[in-house]
Amino acid sequence: MMRTHRPGEMRADHVDSTVVVCGWVANRRDHGGVICIDLRDATGSVQVVIDPAQPGLDVGHRVRTEWVLRVEGPVRLRPTGTENADMPTGLIEIGATAVDVLSESEPVPFPLDDRTDVDESLRLRHRYLDLRRVPMQRNLRLRAEVNLALRNSMAAQGFCEIETPMLIASTPEGARDFVVPSRLKPGNFYALPQSPQLFKQLLMVGGFDRYFQIARCLRDEDLRADRQFEFMQLDLEMSFADQDDVLAAVTHAVQAATAAVRPGVDIGEVPRITWHDAIDRYGSDKPDIRFGMELVDLGEVFAATNFRAFQGVGAVKGICVRGEGGASRSKVDGLVDRAKQLGAAGLVWMRVRATDAGVDVESPVTKFLSDAERSGLIAALDAAPGDLVLIAAGERVPTCQVLGQLRLDLGRPPVTEGLAFLWVVDFPLFEGLGDDGAPISAHHPFTMPHPDDLDRLESDPLSVRSQAYDLVLNGWELGSGSVRIHRPDVQQRIFSLLGITPEAAQGKFGFLLDAFKYGAPPHAGFAFGTDRIVAIFAGEENIREVIAFPKTQSGADPLTNAPSAIDERQLTELGLRVLPPKA
Ligand code: AMO
Repeated sequence: MMRTHRPGEMRADHVDSTVVVCGWVANRRDHGGVICIDLRDATGSVQVVIDPAQPGLDVGHRVRTEWVLRVEGPVRLRPTGTENADMPTGLIEIGATAVDVLSESEPVPFPLDDRTDVDESLRLRHRYLDLRRVPMQRNLRLRAEVNLALRNSMAAQGFCEIETPMLIASTPEGARDFVVPSRLKPGNFYALPQSPQLFKQLLMVGGFDRYFQIARCLRDEDLRADRQFEFMQLDLEMSFADQDDVLAAVTHAVQAATAAVRPGVDIGEVPRITWHDAIDRYGSDKPDIRFGMELVDLGEVFAATNFRAFQGVGAVKGICVRGEGGASRSKVDGLVDRAKQLGAAGLVWMRVRATDAGVDVESPVTKFLSDAERSGLIAALDAAPGDLVLIAAGERVPTCQVLGQLRLDLGRPPVTEGLAFLWVVDFPLFEGLGDDGAPISAHHPFTMPHPDDLDRLESDPLSVRSQAYDLVLNGWELGSGSVRIHRPDVQQRIFSLLGITPEAAQGKFGFLLDAFKYGAPPHAGFAFGTDRIVAIFAGEENIREVIAFPKTQSGADPLTNAPSAIDERQLTELGLRVLPPKA
């Protein structure tokens, strides 16, 4: 038998039994002849005492960290005073009677402890060592638990798991594709899927009325803390279902995932906010609702103002930063600069002070404001002495977004703190106009417009709401979805608005449009990024920490050296020639 027990499971109950354990030497201490090692595996570690003077145990002199050992011996209580209360196995030790060296190790390039200050590319180059560290073991096992809970939730709700292909034609998610050259058809390329979007819609036409997949998606975009080239989605689609059905199914899944990794935590019903209110109150379409400092509309307060900056603008909005009234001038100037960088024309700031008559504001612009405006803004913002008030004016959405960003800069807790899920519904169908004057889809071109707004599609497209929704967690966008267009006439109207000609639509999505000619059920779906939810559950601010083999910020894999050049023969076979790098 290779082993009878696991190192981290050993307890005082095992005292007097003889056990066999296997693992890595986490550290080695020489106590004047007797060698103490902590033997580690995925369950934790246990102290092993080797007396090299005993027959067959002289190997204790040679043993070094990260060697792989098989140790046999009785479990005994540690001598009084040497117990380690910080270790679950700290009351006991194994007195080795036999030690087999299963594998030796060269000195490792960095210590495999809980420290996080090791150079990232060194960690990734030796990821197999990094993975031995307790935090990485914990994170990846947590990830597996989340995946299992999601899968079980979907199965319990009657969803059928179906894999979709990796070598496909382009998907409409709007990022850059990764492409794969075709050997059999030189000069032609597959795209790797940005999501299973089109296939899951085809599955609806194919009669699989509840589909899901924990799907790998690939997008060639700039990497950030919450973005990798390759990432995973819990992807789902439902026929004969509306927005509420999808929201309920996804809520069930995230409730199950939360309960699996945070026992006893019930996130309950997830609150909903409309996109319009999210922008108005938080200046963001992914509001972090873990803290207040909400945006307040000051339009009425300044309706008849003489202050030029607040006249004739789309919106005047303010936030009240509690207790920051004493902020230094340089800090306040920094906020003004930040607002300008974010696109604001300016930022008005006011310190709230107690006066003999009550409360007033102090600011370089106070002289332009009437008494009623000053008291009005104090009341509207519920400002108190010691607070700092920040006000921006301009077009509604960008003004809200600037204040929304300042709100995050000034008040946001670390993303890993607490769990605040939120549904954002009623997104606009289009996010704006492109350079060619055609609107740009906010989600993707298969998103169903809001039925109440359909008649304004051509006359006032930017005012049209969609049946698209996002799930947000602690201010991170976790996922998106929508009710899809299943009627060819509506789809045709959207394509022509987007400036996609019937020929272009046929060329790009012809197979989907053809499928819709043969009885497409009404359908709706959703996808959320599991890397993101796992990172937040794991208390990590970067999704790399919950991915076994991620890429660095620059998109490289220091372990396998990808991306790398391929040889001339392979290029020729694929009909490719590499141009010299641009100067
Ligand atoms: P969307 O493009 O919004 O929707 O993606 C859904 C979710 O996937 C995650 N995600 C990412 N995670 C890590 N790295 C990335 N580069 C990355 N890009 C996206 C996010 C995001 O919210 N097909 C549609 C869904 C649908 O309509 O059903 C889609 O993919 O958490």
